[in-house]
Order: sequence, then C-alpha cells, then structure tokens
Amino acid sequence: MKPIIINLPKYLDRRGNLSFIEEENHLPFKIKRVYWIYDVPGGEVRGGHAFKETEELIVALSGSFDVVLNDGENEYRYSLNRSYYGLLVPKMMWRMIENFSTNSLAMIIASTVYDENDYIRDFNEFKNLK
Ligand code: TYD
Repeated sequence: MKPIIINLPKYLDRRGNLSFIEEENHLPFKIKRVYWIYDVPGGEVRGGHAFKETEELIVALSGSFDVVLNDGENEYRYSLNRSYYGLLVPKMMWRMIENFSTNSLAMIIASTVYDENDYIRDFNEFKNLK
C-alpha cells in the first residue's frame, strides 16, 4: 500500500469552516486512538520510526508541517497545511515529521492503541524487515 492524501469533507461557511472524519466512510481501519503533537519548538523533528502494524491518518489541524515517508526504497514528502487533507500512512513506513510552523497542531488517528512493541526505531532493522 502507498501513502495517499484523503480529501475530507469541508463545509465552507462565512461563520467558519467545518470538516469531519467518519470511520466508516473515510478510513480503511477502525479508530483505536487519537493523539496530537503541539508546541513543537522551531527546527524540531518528530518521528524517526516505523510501525509494524499501526496505520495512521495525519491531519494538520492548524499551521503546517512536512511528513517524510520512506518505504525502504522511495522517499515521499507531503506538506500538510490544510485541515481538510488527511495523509493516510500505511504500516511499515519509516516516517519523520518536520518543518513545523509556529502553533502548528498535528492530529493523528491510529488503528491501534499505543504499544512500544509495534515501533521499529532502527532504520537498518526497518530496511532488513522490508
Ligand atoms: P513517539 O511516538 O516516539 O513520538 P513521535 O511523535 O516523535 O514519533 O512518542 C513519544 C512518547 O510518547 C513515547 O515514548 C510514549 C508516549 N506515547 C504514548 O504514551 N502514547 C501514544 O499514543 C504516543 C503516540 C506516544
């Protein structure tokens, strides 16, 4: 499976816009967890790991950041800067999140509960497993 950008529904309204995600309509997995990354100091990089089983949808709810994915052979860079785009990240993708803008907010919807055993934190081990 390749990473894909999902165009989420958006209701443009002069009172403010609204978007949403429905598990059954927009996700290929059941939602087990939602977490968010915020207050990232300028220049910091998050991630630096892959998941054996976890699939995720990443949304820039506020501000912007880049998600850099590597499947062991190819690198893909996605600049997320709209709250109605979701980046669907398959399992077994090495990933970094960088270039966070001031006050950016990354929401991540995951197919698993947190389990450190699902992480691969060594890039060589990741490449070998691939
Ligand atoms: P980690 O996934 O390594 O952060 P990054 O966003 O940089 O990839 O998570 C950092 C720590 O936060 C991890 O060691 C344990 C904790 N954590 C949880 O307890 N639950 C979670 O759902 C997540 C994502 C992290």
